[in-house]
Order: sequence, then C-alpha cells, then structure tokens
Amino acid sequence: MIKPQLLEFMRRMDPNSVAIIPAARESVRSHDTHYRYRQNSDFFYLTGFEEPDAIAVVAPAKEKKFTLFVRPRDREREIWEGYRAGVDGAVSDYSADEAFPLSEFDEKLAEILDGPSALYYAFGHTTPEMDQKIIRQLTLMRETNRKPLEPPQTIVDPSSIIHEMRVFKSSEEIEIMQRAADIAAEAHVEAMKAVRPRMKEYEVEALIESIFRRHGSAGPSYTSIIGSGANATVLHYISNQGTLRDGDLLLVDAGAEYQGYASDITRTFPINGKFTQAQRDIYDLVLTTQMSCIDMVRPGVRLEDLKTHSIEMLTEGMVNLGLLKGEPAKLIEEKKYMQFYMHNLGHFLGIDVHDAGRYYFKGESRPAEPGMVMTIEPGLYISPDTSNIPEEFNKDVPEKYLGIGVRIEDDVLVTENGARVLTHKVPKDAGEIEALMAIK
Ligand code: GLY
Ligand code: MN
Ligand code: MN
Repeated sequence: MIKPQLLEFMRRMDPNSVAIIPAARESVRSHDTHYRYRQNSDFFYLTGFEEPDAIAVVAPAKEKKFTLFVRPRDREREIWEGYRAGVDGAVSDYSADEAFPLSEFDEKLAEILDGPSALYYAFGHTTPEMDQKIIRQLTLMRETNRKPLEPPQTIVDPSSIIHEMRVFKSSEEIEIMQRAADIAAEAHVEAMKAVRPRMKEYEVEALIESIFRRHGSAGPSYTSIIGSGANATVLHYISNQGTLRDGDLLLVDAGAEYQGYASDITRTFPINGKFTQAQRDIYDLVLTTQMSCIDMVRPGVRLEDLKTHSIEMLTEGMVNLGLLKGEPAKLIEEKKYMQFYMHNLGHFLGIDVHDAGRYYFKGESRPAEPGMVMTIEPGLYISPDTSNIPEEFNKDVPEKYLGIGVRIEDDVLVTENGARVLTHKVPKDAGEIEALMAIK
C-alpha cells in the first residue's frame, strides 16, 4: 500500500507539479568499505524504501503519480551486498506506479521536467551531481525555445511541505517511537544497575548499545555520550575513554534508533550509587526545572515560553546556590545564566534525533500542538577550568560545584491534555535512582 505520508505530500503539492526526491548515497568509510547505510530521512518518510541511490519522482496530476528509479536486480552485486527489490519489487512491494533502473533516469529527465509548472527539488541537499544534472536539463530546455517544451517556471523546496508534515506524528509513528523510547529506557536502567567505580566509560557505552541491538534497534540514534566527572561538562563529549571515579557523577545521553525513529534520553547519576550534597544541589535544581517544564507542555504553550521558564527557574536556583550573583531578572537580561546553561531546552524528535520542522514562523515561536514529539532537557555544566572564564561571567564559582555536569532529558508527546512522557520508565528522582542502584 502506498504510504499515507506520500499521499498527503501529493495532496499538498501544487497540482501541476513534479517532485524529484533522491535517496541517500552510500558513503565510503575507508578505501572500498562503506558505513552502514542509512536512508535519507525525507525519502524514508515518503517511500519506506531503504536501498541506496534510488530516486522518487512524484507527479500528482499524472496517471503514473509515483515513479521509482532503483538499482536493478544484479546477481553478481547481490552475492556481495544482498537482495535488491529491483524494478519489479519497487512496484509490487513499495507501491510505485512504475519503476525503472537508475541508469534510465538521465534520459527520462527531459520528459519528467516537460509540462509541470513547478518543480519540487531540494537544491544543495542531495549531491552536487544531481543538482548539476537538473540545472543542465532545465537550462537546455529553457534555451530550446523553438521546440514545444515547457520546463517548470517555479522551483520549490519540498521540505517546506515534508518537514512540516514530519512535525506531527501519526499514531503508527508514535507507536514506533514509544518502542524506541522503551528500548533506550531499558538500557539506561541496566546501565544504572551495572555502573561501578573503576569501570571505563566505553564499557557503559557497550552495555547500552548491546541492549539497543538485542531489541532490533539499528543502533544509537546519535553517538552516545558517556561522560564521567568533569567530562559531563563537555556538551558533545563522545570519546568515552575515561575511567569512572568513586564520588563522581556519570552523565549518559543515549538513544536508540528503531524502525527509523529516534529516542533521546539523558540521565545523570552517582557512580558509587550515592549523591553528595553538592551534587544533589545541582541535580535537584535541574530536575525540578525539567519536571516543571514538562508540566507546562500542552497545546498552545509557545516553545520559547518553555525555554524562558527553564531559564527563570535555573537562574533563580543558581543565585540561591551562589553560582550566580545578583538580581535574577538582570542576570537573565544579561544572559549570565549562559555560563552554566548554554544550550536549548529541547528539540523536535522523530526520524532524525534533531528532527525536521520549523520552530519559528515570521520570527514568532510556534505553539505546541498535539502530535508533536520533543525533548525536554535542561542542564547545568560547571567547568572545572576556571582559568579562562570571560570577564562578564562569575569567576568566583563555589569550589564544591566545580566539575559537576548534570542534564536530565525526556521525550514527550504533546497530547490534547498535556505531555505524555515516552521515556518515563527510567527513574530520575534522586532517591529512586539511589534505590535502584542499591540493588546490585
Ligand atoms: N544527544 C543529543 C541531544 O540531546 O540533543
Ligand atoms: Mn536531545
Ligand atoms: Mn540527548
């Protein structure tokens, strides 16, 4: 059956138009070996087809509305690389109205571009070769004015439709995302139970990702961040080579990709199973902020208002802890909180971990609406390195907080009644974490 997403895309296209949507290419890892293939997110969303190099041509006004150009069946290549659907499979298994071998795309391009008044193609987002091919063909057709050719007058970025569609998840997509969340939640719980002083960060990474794979996940939906001690203050720490030290915290930011959809969870917990008072000060501030932001999620709340709320709560808390000095309102106005809270509150989540879709329209923050899935992930990061703090920031950071990094991240679905937390199965209350870690 044709994917409902493709039908909806056609419905939203200009009636007399054509879209050319290429799949992702394979990418070389070294010499003649490749990275494990991952389909282009928009292509996957519209077609569900997971082979490299294909091209989808979508023309809602035509009798043949959906054409796929694919790698043909090839006994020799299939011995090395595995099964290909080929042109017959593209029609029978992926509901294309017709399909051709990729090698025929160039000669059919003139025909594809002759007639529709608009072309949907994402220049700059596929390959320079494909961009060039389309530009060359359009130029040729525009210059051939003594033949009855009608190349498109308008070129539209298809993501203006596709990315807006991707912001709202269907019930089938939500079911898959719940599974991606459950797999990641199980991995985080197992990590909390397994962690001990002297382990390596990469051992925790291995444990988490083995659980992802055991459940049929393709693997992590982004490179897992396993940061112990001061490594947790590096926002995109991914080397994961450090040794877990008694008395430090461990920040684990890891999510699974399952059937093409991402989860994204962060938990921060004590390596020896017990928070120190200084760690609790920071942890509880981040946690109450995170939970309060989740409480605010409901249709109509502007995404920027959630972020502002997190800034207000964290700034006030930081003043109480002596991390910032002064009036909260002034500290916010002067963005002084950015010394310790320097990233956004969250992001859309879906096929991409930082998913498609616009956060602003005409400069205005968009409101939350049912069907959106997003992360809520405030954090505080107190670098141990006080040697290069810029002039405008507080140089007098209480020593007991140096080297502490805390982030707490959940995935939430916006419903009519508020937030549904997809990742609720991993504890985040400090007492609950300590109780879980005590069961060794
Ligand atoms: N792990 C990436 C993020 O949390 O946005
Ligand atoms: Mn995230
Ligand atoms: Mn994350």
